[in-house]
Amino acid sequence: MNWAETTLVNSAPRRWLQRCYEVPVLLRFGGRLIPGTRALEIGCGAGYGSQLVLERFGAAGVDGVDLDPAMIRRAGARLARYGDRVRLAQGSATDLRAALGADDGGYGAVFDFRIVHHIPDWRKAIGEVARALAPGGRFYFDEVTAHALARPTYRRLFEHPTEDRFSAEEFLDELTHHGLVVLRSLTRIHSDYLLGVAAKPIAGGGET
Ligand SMILES: C[S@@+](CC[C@H](N)C(=O)[O-])C[C@H]1O[C@@H](n2cnc3c(N)ncnc32)[C@H](O)[C@@H]1O
Repeated sequence: MNWAETTLVNSAPRRWLQRCYEVPVLLRFGGRLIPGTRALEIGCGAGYGSQLVLERFGAAGVDGVDLDPAMIRRAGARLARYGDRVRLAQGSATDLRAALGADDGGYGAVFDFRIVHHIPDWRKAIGEVARALAPGGRFYFDEVTAHALARPTYRRLFEHPTEDRFSAEEFLDELTHHGLVVLRSLTRIHSDYLLGVAAKPIAGGGET
């Protein structure tokens, strides 16, 4: 992320939107987590999303992964009060085994607060999310589509991969391609943003 985006994502208005609009939508779509659930946040940035995963979604613990070591340091400072409920790792959402070690396949929930659109091989990241979830686990996502990234303000102010970005439909299709069942989703501001929840089916049972 460049300076402008780092400033924006860590600003009070952005956190207000996340806390007061996006989290309530995701809670309405996917509910709070079953007690004892350990969650993963990909692209945890400075750790505000992980704090919401603990406080609002009721996760027992959260593992946060971010590519940027400076972000991991900031998240470590923010989340220190939670002790061993939080583990942070520097690495890529496209290779969670390398970032997290061997025990990366059993998360009850994975959270994506606006990170997948930053990843050149975003399909690989979706595949990793599907693999990291335990059967019955849920993927909570809040994404920025190609429609938003094509806007002059986004192009001038921020730096994102320019090739092969996704529409809302393409993102949802990719979830289905990796075996996830989309429970509910919505787009807002002319499909600029996509929010939703998907579930990894339990073999031989329902999706949750
Ligand atoms: C727009 S910020 C969002 C940060 C945080 N989720 C939030 O809502 O405040 C995107 C974050 O994704 C991280 N990121 C970009 N590519 C990544 C990758 N391949 N794997 C993990 N994190 C990545 C960036 O370092 C940055 O912290």
